Amino acid sequence: MGTSFTVRACANIALVKYWGKRDAALNLPAAGSLSLALAALVTETTVAFDQRLGADLVELDGGPAAGAALGRVTKFLDLVRDRAGITTRARVSSANRFPTASGLASSASGFAALAVAGARAAGLELAPRELSLLARRGSGSAARSIFGGFVRMHAGDHDEAAYAEPVTSSLLDRVRMVIAIVGGGVPKTHGSRDAMEHCAATSPLYQAWLDLVPKDLATAEAALATRDLAALGELAEANALAMHAAAIASRPSIIYWRPATLALLAAVRMLRDNGRAAWATMDAGPHVKVLTTIEDADHVARALSAVEGVTATTISEPGGPAYVVERG
Ligand code: DP6
Repeated sequence: MGTSFTVRACANIALVKYWGKRDAALNLPAAGSLSLALAALVTETTVAFDQRLGADLVELDGGPAAGAALGRVTKFLDLVRDRAGITTRARVSSANRFPTASGLASSASGFAALAVAGARAAGLELAPRELSLLARRGSGSAARSIFGGFVRMHAGDHDEAAYAEPVTSSLLDRVRMVIAIVGGGVPKTHGSRDAMEHCAATSPLYQAWLDLVPKDLATAEAALATRDLAALGELAEANALAMHAAAIASRPSIIYWRPATLALLAAVRMLRDNGRAAWATMDAGPHVKVLTTIEDADHVARALSAVEGVTATTISEPGGPAYVVERG
């Protein structure tokens, strides 16, 4: 059996969302995006190539993977094998170290950890940018999870141009993110991959969304450069609402929000009216993530916990880059 590599990668939350593709086969995003890595949401993945295996053996969160989940991992490992010039099958074990029963799934941390562990186990020495390009083929948001802190994803107009890279900002020392989990009979939501495709194909607001993203990226980057948290937060909340507006206008509609999601948005607004740093963002689910400061994080988490329908809150620090924790 080849050397096994165990890698940890953090999930990330986009402040300027990725929502739509230019090319589904290469998984090229239609526009850029910008995210914050979260230390509280970590995936740990071990990969070893083993000559004795006739097929990839994949375990996800303690159980054997099958069907579409297995297919997606094997397809990704095929890219790694092609690149390394090997045909050996792999043993993969991956687990999310997310707050218990959080209802958060992350293809971002999952494919970032798989890219780094898979590449190393296959004997490839890839630079971070190449790892980001590779991770993107698994999941667009995974390209960002190779790096820590604030991360900018480039739309790129061809395969090698669509990678992520870190954006330095002294704001990183000030920020926290509070994750409010909305529970209680949430129906199975529409996965982001299918949902963005459906939105692009049917939403009359999709083109407006695409026209908006470059402007929002410029505003977000200016806010990071000038250490203007309020400007960054306002932009992030507005951008998330624009993405959801485009999704809601899809035909048939995609609505991720539950009553508690709206109650959380109102609570965040009230926190701001009371002078707290708090700006909301939402992804392909009902949960609300709130950008705040170290000083305000506890207050914000308490206020969000009190909202009806919220089952848990977690305060997260910014996360670091994907890294190898063990080789065996
Ligand atoms: C709403 O990265 O999961 O979280 O590339 O098809 O795997 P695929 O999509 P994915 O989409 C993430 C969508 C989002 C916004 C974001 O993270 O930027």
